[in-house]
Amino acid sequence: MIAVIDFGSQYTQLIARRIRECGVYSEIISCHGSASVLVGKDVEGIVLSGGPGSVYEIDIENYRRFFSLGVPVLGICYGMQLAAQLFGGKVRKSKSREYGLAHLTHRKDPLFAGIPKRVHVWMSHGDTVVRVPRGARVIAYTENTAVAAFRLRGFYGLQFHPEVRHTRHGRRIISNFVIKVCHARRTWSARRFVEDEINRIREMVGNEKAICGISGGVDSTVAATIAARALGKNLISVFVDNGVLRMNEREEVRASLSPVMNLRVIDARDRFLSSLANVKDAERKRKVIGREFIKIFEAEANRIGNVKYLVQGTLYPDVIESGQGIGPADVIKSHHNVGGLPKRMKLKIIEPLRMLFKDEVRSIGRYLGLPAHYIERKPFPGPGLAVRIVGVVNKGRLETLRQADQILLEEAHKLRNYGSIWQIFAVLLPLGSVGVMGDRRTYDSVCAIRAVRSDDGMTADWVRLPHNFLNRVSRRIVNEVKGINRVVFDITSKPPATIEWE
Ligand code: XMP
Repeated sequence: MIAVIDFGSQYTQLIARRIRECGVYSEIISCHGSASVLVGKDVEGIVLSGGPGSVYEIDIENYRRFFSLGVPVLGICYGMQLAAQLFGGKVRKSKSREYGLAHLTHRKDPLFAGIPKRVHVWMSHGDTVVRVPRGARVIAYTENTAVAAFRLRGFYGLQFHPEVRHTRHGRRIISNFVIKVCHARRTWSARRFVEDEINRIREMVGNEKAICGISGGVDSTVAATIAARALGKNLISVFVDNGVLRMNEREEVRASLSPVMNLRVIDARDRFLSSLANVKDAERKRKVIGREFIKIFEAEANRIGNVKYLVQGTLYPDVIESGQGIGPADVIKSHHNVGGLPKRMKLKIIEPLRMLFKDEVRSIGRYLGLPAHYIERKPFPGPGLAVRIVGVVNKGRLETLRQADQILLEEAHKLRNYGSIWQIFAVLLPLGSVGVMGDRRTYDSVCAIRAVRSDDGMTADWVRLPHNFLNRVSRRIVNEVKGINRVVFDITSKPPATIEWE
């Protein structure tokens, strides 16, 4: 395996994922952890991630341990600066911070095998290596960065990010490191992943029971399918109608999943809506919802008896945005199933997909033989329409948004490129605006339409929807939904916005 040491970059999992794409198992370890956790793990190489810190501001001596395992090491951004500083080079604040695309020119080296001599790479750094350690060879530079890559015996340092899609041939650079430099064995596959998880879950749960929180989406369905293979009848799947679902969602989920799993459907609409009454703040909403889910799962566990575990379909982007990755990263928003969880819980959590991205989960779903229409379902957040009604959530506003969303979805299904859209949905704004209908003044709500394209939910671009589509949707919403008299279209990408509004 290749160990990825996390220094707090938002992209650490992306590095691990690129390594898995080479068919090689990869695991993330916190930079605060000891190197001894790697002993006995058959480590074939190490990658040091980027991170928000500066290597000259803290005592880095402690990190020397990651270089003493006798395997090749690749340092990315912070990881490169760390090695430079530790081995006698010099790192300084850059005169001008470098963000975005740069032209890289490289020298001949196995790391760059098969890559054109000049390529676009993605930079994001405020510090620079101004002098490399003795014996190191600079193997790449850009117009602004004299040391864009260097090599020192078994160490490679890159100032740019090969793991992000904007770096051309970035995957090839990572695969060159993993395969050509580390000679790592290709043993990672969907089959292997599922087998390992089944064994891990069996070992953890033993003869006890577990429940699985089902949302009707691909993640929880894949998690439940793996857990059911591990536990058989001892896994009970629970679908909660939390009152913030889309139109007809409860019945659709019941109809498609009851035949394939041991499913209980719980009506908790009133309970959720009364806990949400008067809650305006987005983070608070997420936490209230996370807490209510857990209370319901715990009550259900008591009713069934002998249930000690809760299986969830948590994915890596939920973990990293909630600031609960392995290293020191920032909180972007508390996903209901991670940052929204109460501090003290009776059930122990099992999250087989915690380290994976959506498209990886989809391919595991395919391997498990789940129906194609299920695998292609668009993501829907656990806090549901509550985070798509900006401000206060109540029955009236929910009904208004449900109707608008339903119209948008009906029309969207007719789009030729519907399959390539990551998510398309309506948002209800806490904003009134003046209109005129049938010679009468109106003062009603504004509805926003959001449609994005994305690979993994970590970054996204807005979809250039056809004007006649937008026109049709806007006219239908204003004509058919009481309480909305204006429709706007969200044209922001992620970053700087997020996909959901709250
Ligand atoms: P953001 O809004 O953070 O969303 O750009 C990224 C992806 O995650 C979904 N999302 C959630 N999923 N629980 C979930 O299960 C949550 O609390 C949650 N918040 C956002 C969002 O729909 C998008 O696909």
